[in-house]
Amino acid sequence: MFKDTVKKFFAPKEKERFIPSKKSTAGMSARDFKRLPQHVAIIMDGNGRWAKRHRLSVSRGHRQGTENLREIIRHTDDLGIHALSLYAFSTENWSRPQEEVDALMQLILDFFASEIDELDAKNVHILILGDKSRLPEKQRLTLIEAEERTAGNTGLHLNIAINYGGRDEIARAARELADQVAGGMLDPALINEQMIADHLYTRGQPDVDLLIRTSGEMRLSNFLLFQCAYAEFVFPKTLWPDFSVRDYDETLLDFGGRERRFGKRL
Ligand code: FPP
Repeated sequence: MFKDTVKKFFAPKEKERFIPSKKSTAGMSARDFKRLPQHVAIIMDGNGRWAKRHRLSVSRGHRQGTENLREIIRHTDDLGIHALSLYAFSTENWSRPQEEVDALMQLILDFFASEIDELDAKNVHILILGDKSRLPEKQRLTLIEAEERTAGNTGLHLNIAINYGGRDEIARAARELADQVAGGMLDPALINEQMIADHLYTRGQPDVDLLIRTSGEMRLSNFLLFQCAYAEFVFPKTLWPDFSVRDYDETLLDFGGRERRFGKRL
């Protein structure tokens, strides 16, 4: 009892506690890979469990996850991968405790405040996937500003899904096409897969080649449903805040070794 009180009294405040990172900055280079994906999608799962393991708040777990994200984005850019899509906030995440939602909203602001200059300097093109109109004003304006500022960039396509749902994205595409039909501008018989792809947030980008979901969960959770039709899936057990550049390289190597048939017999 006395020991517990002493421990509590001397425990550093959550914000100040140093969490050692097992990150390796020594990532592989593009020439080390036989084949790299053009489009990688990541479901950054496990922040909550990581926080619990370290006896920290869930919000702190998300913050550690965001720290990790910077390294992964940098490495993706260094490797010359065309597009990286990240699931930051789903349409279902609104139902999490208000404190957690607020923390995630704050992280969005912090992330762009600290990263936008470097991302822009690196020629990264930022695109937000999802309905921005339902976001708080500050977040909405920050996201619009990041998109507008980097709109002319020709490097890595960094897609960040915020208030995003895959079914909702497809429904929106269907509505846009239906509008054209109703206006007499489109013959419904001409609607094909490409036309639907051209009305998704990711229009003009290649399909997802590799989907990574960390923490051992094996679900798509409504992420890029249309774009993942032929994606290779990798489910590392590592929790997102611990997912290092080296772990990332391993998933990329795994991808390079897979035989992709796209439904054909080779
Ligand atoms: C899933 O972990 C993760 C999320 C719902 C949010 C991921 C968001 C970030 C890492 C912040 C990204 C921010 C920006 C601006 C790009 P979980 O909480 O469901 O983990 P658990 O399953 O262990 O509880």
